Amino acid sequence: MDRFEGRTAVVTGAASGIGLAVAEALVAEGMRVVMTDIDAASLDGHVARLRDSGADVHPIVVDVRDPDAVDAAAEAAVELFGGLHVAVNNAGIVNRGYSWELSLDDWHRVLDVNLWGVIHGVRAFVPRILATGEEGHVVNVASMAAVQAVDRLGPYTVAKHGVLGLSDVLRLEMRSMGAPVGVSVVMPGMIRTGLNPIGTVEASTVAVNIVDAIRTGRSYVFTDDHHAEPVEARLRSIIAARDDVIG
Ligand code: NAI
Repeated sequence: MDRFEGRTAVVTGAASGIGLAVAEALVAEGMRVVMTDIDAASLDGHVARLRDSGADVHPIVVDVRDPDAVDAAAEAAVELFGGLHVAVNNAGIVNRGYSWELSLDDWHRVLDVNLWGVIHGVRAFVPRILATGEEGHVVNVASMAAVQAVDRLGPYTVAKHGVLGLSDVLRLEMRSMGAPVGVSVVMPGMIRTGLNPIGTVEASTVAVNIVDAIRTGRSYVFTDDHHAEPVEARLRSIIAARDDVIG
């Protein structure tokens, strides 16, 4: 998708971190952005600040666990701006613990936001992007935990593997339909945000990568190359059916 000016994007989890940085980067490209988040106060503050500097942004409080709320946000984007071109499924949370010790509530909490939230986004945003009939793009924010198992991050790793799988399926579907809609899946590493205060990469760097992926139609977006070796080793082990998978 090479034209951003005057087109519409929706971003989930847009009140902080990567989602906020992506919303700001899309605004800088001239897009109208529907910013959604569960945190109304933070969302309103950022929308007011961006509007003051002339941005065409609109806040909608959305819990991505609620399919009806995600659907209503998609419909509102179309009603407000006349169509939808870009969807960024970004909202996410994390918890830690041994897989067998985490409660079912812990498992559901992360899967409901990080996997079901993206499923709800795909179901709500993709039909509206297709109906707009123009070039479009879907960005799903996964994690390095989509391509690498992470110790004591069971629900998060399961959810992010699911997001990678769903993104690949969606890309196949768009291609087999001949739809002009690209699909990117993002594998951030250690990004300094509320979710990861010890991160070393700025959220704005991820946003620059995401805008470039939308523009060039890049399928897989990495934010650093620190993890190439274990990911390669893991894939080699799987292909060779060896047992020495590196965690
Ligand atoms: P963050 O905590 O700064 O931002 C996440 C946003 O999602 C917050 O504004 C929060 O209010 C919102 N949110 C949480 N639950 C929600 C729900 N049910 N419905 C709607 N919004 C909800 O975190 P960050 O780091 O910006 O995370 C964004 C995405 O990036 C997540 O999917 C995360 O898994 C992923 N990621 C982050 C990494 C990092 O190092 N920060 C590394 C790899 C992936």
